[in-house]
Amino acid sequence: MDCFVLATTSLVFILLYGVAKLSYSIWLKPKWQQRLLNQQGIRGRAYNLLVGDMKEFIKQITEAWSKPINLCHQIVPRVDPFTHDNVQKYGKVSFCWTGTRPRLIIKDPELMKEVLANKQGHFQKPPLNPLLLVLCKGITTLEGEQWSKRRRMINPAFHLEKLKGLIPIFSVSCRQMIEQWKEMATSHSSCEIDVWPEFQKLTADAISRTAFGSSYEEGKTIFEHQKELISLTLEAMQSLYIPGFRFVPTKKNQRRKKLNKEITSMLRNVIRRKQHGMRMGHERADDLLGMLLLSAEENTSGAERGMANGDVIEECKQFYLAGQETTSSLLTWAIIVLALHPEWQEKARQEILQVCSKELDFEAIHHLKIVTMILYEVLRLYPPVIALYQYTNKDTKIKEISLPAGVDITLPILLMNHDPGLWGDDAEEFNPERFSEGVSKASKDTLAFFAFGWGPRTCIGQNFAMIEAKVALAMILKHFSFKLSPSYSHAPYTVMTLQPQHGAQIIIHQI
Ligand code: HEM
Repeated sequence: MDCFVLATTSLVFILLYGVAKLSYSIWLKPKWQQRLLNQQGIRGRAYNLLVGDMKEFIKQITEAWSKPINLCHQIVPRVDPFTHDNVQKYGKVSFCWTGTRPRLIIKDPELMKEVLANKQGHFQKPPLNPLLLVLCKGITTLEGEQWSKRRRMINPAFHLEKLKGLIPIFSVSCRQMIEQWKEMATSHSSCEIDVWPEFQKLTADAISRTAFGSSYEEGKTIFEHQKELISLTLEAMQSLYIPGFRFVPTKKNQRRKKLNKEITSMLRNVIRRKQHGMRMGHERADDLLGMLLLSAEENTSGAERGMANGDVIEECKQFYLAGQETTSSLLTWAIIVLALHPEWQEKARQEILQVCSKELDFEAIHHLKIVTMILYEVLRLYPPVIALYQYTNKDTKIKEISLPAGVDITLPILLMNHDPGLWGDDAEEFNPERFSEGVSKASKDTLAFFAFGWGPRTCIGQNFAMIEAKVALAMILKHFSFKLSPSYSHAPYTVMTLQPQHGAQIIIHQI
């Protein structure tokens, strides 16, 4: 009898403990966090049990993405309606809810810099969905000492001096695309092209040439596999996440596993061959992979342990993931915007004809002032990465705002870039002139350009991307004039990067 009473009492206690813990995490904690934010004058949405703002988010985005918009640059309400609505209702520092976690939205450049400077290490990238983690195990997801060591090793490969050597490689990729466009255009003197898939092919080609040099064909296959893996992963992420489900041998899970294995094994072979070739002196060391391997070797001989081949493999995957779609997004919006603004298209063409009369080299690229201003203005109006995400891993402060551990943070680049308070009354207009004295003088009082991030984790590939985009634009503008096709509908939206939902159809005329 005593045993029975003891067992029942224990069970009741365990049950009560469980209920108390659950109530704390799904109700009391969010309510306490909400009060803490309200007490500091920060306003936001009321907490909804368990689901937070998921339903409202999906409703707003489904509606906004259901129809295109007019041909103008006021794209914020379509691309990111939920964050836009939150900021309009509750102010530039406001909050909403991701499930049971508060999400602070900060649309203020000084506060954004404070978060991104991350001086005490109180901020981190938010925990990733385990499905996505399979794709991102390199520099983009490392934290703390591991990250800074890796960044030090990779940095030399992206120095401007080293990138100069990549210009002829980018030119080869572009020339191939231009030749194909010429063939298409000559039969009818003009033709319609959807530049979004074209630029995806171009940037994939450029990155596999620059990353893998002589093994570029193999590199291309690796990246094709990776593209399939990314799309399968995104598909899986859109369905309800059930812990452990990725281990169930469904057809798609098996395909993901197989692709991942194949990519790793192909990369391992390419790396082994490259190492051998470099030792024997018949392989270039000035492509990305060569530089990564050299940098790893140099660091191994010092006090630090260098990158193992497995780490180099992960970094190669990262370059594709971080650099391919972002650069195609920039190029796509640049072409759409220049089709909408023929006067700037002509200005850029004149500059290119004047500066790059012969070969495209670093000197010529460096002198493309108007093209640079145009690219920055496109990055402002159509940033490929529309927001940065952080997470407080400890109780911390952002200037005067106290935050408990476990708060998600959104830094909405797109919203900032369209804010008249920062860019002036013409914030929604395409006006490359604002960048005539460089990025730091383009916004009103304070630096507000975050297209490549900011602080220690700023984009490592920004010079790479800008050079590649300049080479591509210069070659296109030299050979073609273009305008929007009647079949184009203006529908920017985001799937990882800012993309044209229904394609980017333009009509090209060979010059
Ligand atoms: C227009 C093109 C590009 C844009 C707009 C862009 C944007 C960004 C942004 C906003 C970040 C910061 C992310 C964060 O803080 O969460 C970032 C990081 C990064 N980018 Fe880019 N990127 C571009 C091209 C590239 C290219 C071409 C490469 C490589 C070949 C690259 C490699 C990386 C890497 C490795 C990081 C992580 C850096 C770190 O965590 O230390 N990106 N990029």
